[in-house]
Amino acid sequence: MTLVLATGGLGFIGSHTCVSLIENGFDVLILDSLENSSEDIFYKIQEITNHKINVNCGKLFFINCDISDEIYLEEIFHDFYKNKNPIESVIHFAGLKSVEESVRDPLKYWDINLRCTINLLRVMRKYECNKLVFSSSATIYKPLKSKLLKESFLLDPINPYGRTKLTIEKILFDFQSSYKNFKFINLRYFNPVGAHSSGIIGENPRINSSNLFPVIGKVIRGELEKLSIFGKDWPTIDGTCIRDYIHVMDLADAHISALKFIAKSKPKFSSINIGTGEGKTVLEVINTYSKVNHIEIPYSFEERREGDTPFLVADNRMALKILNWKPSRTFDQICIDSFNFINKN
Ligand code: NAD
Ligand code: WQD
Repeated sequence: MTLVLATGGLGFIGSHTCVSLIENGFDVLILDSLENSSEDIFYKIQEITNHKINVNCGKLFFINCDISDEIYLEEIFHDFYKNKNPIESVIHFAGLKSVEESVRDPLKYWDINLRCTINLLRVMRKYECNKLVFSSSATIYKPLKSKLLKESFLLDPINPYGRTKLTIEKILFDFQSSYKNFKFINLRYFNPVGAHSSGIIGENPRINSSNLFPVIGKVIRGELEKLSIFGKDWPTIDGTCIRDYIHVMDLADAHISALKFIAKSKPKFSSINIGTGEGKTVLEVINTYSKVNHIEIPYSFEERREGDTPFLVADNRMALKILNWKPSRTFDQICIDSFNFINKN
């Protein structure tokens, strides 16, 4: 079986992708420092995939490793290489992702996000591992008022987190230009939400996040009295901001398509949007969530949040065409799976 390294594979997107990888027959090695996750996610991924163990499922390994430690990272590559089970491709999820924290502590973001990636590239090169899928973000685009964002549009992130992502894309571009057999894809995720349909894994509720779905979770659990909606006078149909929310399992599947694509494509640089191509306002999110789960979500309108933009939706045609992938879960399903996870955790 092909061995795929998932850096940060115990995190929100990584854990769901590992489930898909294993179910698609890949062997998976997770390296995670547990900076923003916990070891029990490893056992939960096993729990979800175990019952399918005889149906061509891959194997799962986990090592607690901070990939900013290049010596340890290299030891791990070496061990698998020596045991004739070399790491053949990498999905690089590991990194810091909070916009607010990156504004408070930009050096931490520049240091960790870049160091992890540069270490990884050095070691990959040494062990002739030449396929990489990188977790990039829609946050690197210069926002436009109401146009679907295409990969060719202007890149101009407005916060340090986004700038580290864009810089990493540039590093990868330079790396590929110099080492021609290196193949990689930047997947520019829009707003990943939802949870695995089992309710066993989802977005870690113990981690303090100010993103919309985790905040809705806090309101449902009673940790917050109500949801604050940031702004009611945006230029949208109901005055609240529009985002492209994608089910995390659809996003997981996009990684499988990306790996299959780079395995057979010529070495080159590609950046691909992963979104649904459809936007929802904050009020539409609340209404659907309430309706499909038969609950009420109390909310009030507050000032606009600094740095917000009214419209961020993917033009996803490149993914549909090149990756032969398409999102298959509905927005209702996103809300149902998200609520199911909250109830079970
Ligand atoms: P997450 O924080 O849940 O997962 C990241 C994982 O990386 C965590 O398990 C964490 O412990 C691990 N990690 C952090 N630093 C590490 C290090 N030095 N060495 C090893 N492991 C380390 O985040 P996520 O939402 O799953 O995001 C995954 C990736 O996707 C990130 O790179 C993020 O920037 C990117 N991304 C996320 C979103 C989103 O909305 N969640 C959107 C676009 C892009
Ligand atoms: C969605 C909408 C808010 C919370 C962020 C990062 C981005 C990417 C995805 C990593 C907005 C509104 C939110 C609340 C609200 N991550 N909202 N009340 O800002 O689109 O993107 O996550 O790459 O980099 O910036 O996501 O979930 O924070 O907000 O009204 O309490 O919900 O104003 O319109 P965002 P979000």
